[in-house]
Amino acid sequence: MARLVKKEFNGPLDIKIGTKSIRICMCGLSANQPYCDNSHKKTVDEEDNKIYAYEKEGERIEVKNWEVMI
Ligand code: FES
Repeated sequence: MARLVKKEFNGPLDIKIGTKSIRICMCGLSANQPYCDNSHKKTVDEEDNKIYAYEKEGERIEVKNWEVMI
């Protein structure tokens, strides 16, 4: 089973709880969900208006013809 989830953030959401701070992954690439593990750094050179997929091994491919079927 597999699914594609479209994420547009390329950095974490910082949440402060009292004196502590946690970083929630918003890019979808962290291996330590829901926490950020800095995998979002792979997205820094993504081009606007393009869609990418990331393989487990970290390889990035561009997705073409993304189409929503309803
Ligand atoms: S925001 Fe996803 S790994 Fe940092």
